[in-house]
Amino acid sequence: MALGPLTRRIAYLEEGDIAILSRESAEILNEKGETVERRIQIAELSGAIVGKGNYKHFMEKEIHEQPATVGETLNGLVDAGTRGVVLPALPFDLATVDRVTLVACGTSYYAAMVAKYWIESLAQVPVELDIASEFRYRNGPVLPGSLAMFVSQSGETVDTLAALRYAKAKGAHTAAVVNVPTSAMAREADVMLRTLAGPEIGVATTKAFTAQLSVLACFATALGRARGLISADREAQITQALMEIPARLAEGLVKLPSLLTPIVEEVAEARDVLYLGRGLSYPLAMEGALKLKEISYIHAEGYAAGEMKHGPIALIDETVPVIALAPEDSWFEKTVSNLQEVAARRGRVIVFTTKRGAEHLRPIAAHVVEMPDIDPLVSPLLYALPVQMLAYYVAVRKGTDVDQPRNLAKSVTVE
Ligand code: M6R
Repeated sequence: MALGPLTRRIAYLEEGDIAILSRESAEILNEKGETVERRIQIAELSGAIVGKGNYKHFMEKEIHEQPATVGETLNGLVDAGTRGVVLPALPFDLATVDRVTLVACGTSYYAAMVAKYWIESLAQVPVELDIASEFRYRNGPVLPGSLAMFVSQSGETVDTLAALRYAKAKGAHTAAVVNVPTSAMAREADVMLRTLAGPEIGVATTKAFTAQLSVLACFATALGRARGLISADREAQITQALMEIPARLAEGLVKLPSLLTPIVEEVAEARDVLYLGRGLSYPLAMEGALKLKEISYIHAEGYAAGEMKHGPIALIDETVPVIALAPEDSWFEKTVSNLQEVAARRGRVIVFTTKRGAEHLRPIAAHVVEMPDIDPLVSPLLYALPVQMLAYYVAVRKGTDVDQPRNLAKSVTVE
């Protein structure tokens, strides 16, 4: 992206290559010192060149692009006629996959965490999930012939790349869910599952996350189908639910700004914020906390709501906003009872739920935001939006450098 304003013709060096540059030419030597040719590719237009349009920040623009980027990503994976998922050609038989290892960092890790819930429930395949910087050094088992998946916007995160190489060396099939098709992970994995989010400039990732979720939901569905656990009708129901997401995101983009205004005021004044969720909303709670801390510098933690009574509930008082993600799913009643415990300790409950969910929660919550109705299975794709927007508005209110928060890089290529 840094080279975007200068050229779109890019040659990628391979491991061990050295380039000797002069004003007139570039000579590339491989690790044996032999002169080699590396193919010149035409890079896609950089978002930095496209610009921010009428938005104040890239992050704001990228949040608003999500109806289009989720739609694009799904269009590449769902057959509009049969409503079935169509994955790219795989060098292994999906029906034989009986174990998945999922590895990533940061927000991509939270997308992988949602995928664990989807893969285990839809395909009944056990998933081992790990943070790349832990996975790569613990010398854990990766079974030859098992599937190891790596999730990364940039495809260059050094720990995730090292984890991919480790799994490959152990004989696993490797798949990379990446947004940059020319990245190291895209080139080195056996198969690339591409997110079509387009160039993402804001350091806080938004549209890449929902695009990752789109790919991973399709993958989990295809795996369940290949293993005979999902009928064609159920598959069509799931893809239908996914295809409705862009419209619901567009609705959210219009309605949420005014609904969030009083919440932004409250959160911006807080020193600590807790995010809670259960089931598919638990990773979203972690993602909400990460978004808030990275761009607004407010301390935030994401917890599984059922874990509150094992410690964090001791933090609750009227100064700590507790933000709950509570779609009306199979975990809803349990979440409500956890929130009652918070309210009983004078906690300020802020909740994102459905219209019907709101009826249960209004008596105990300081703020209730009604979200559009959707199939709870795909709720992470929609509930990502309010946590992104809340973090964004709080950061703007605090006057931080939203697109370039302190101490952070877009792509972490050092350990
Ligand atoms: O490019 P990657 O998806 O591999 O990056 C992983 C993390 O560095 C990234 O998600 C980071 O946590 C973001 N700043 C979160 O908004």
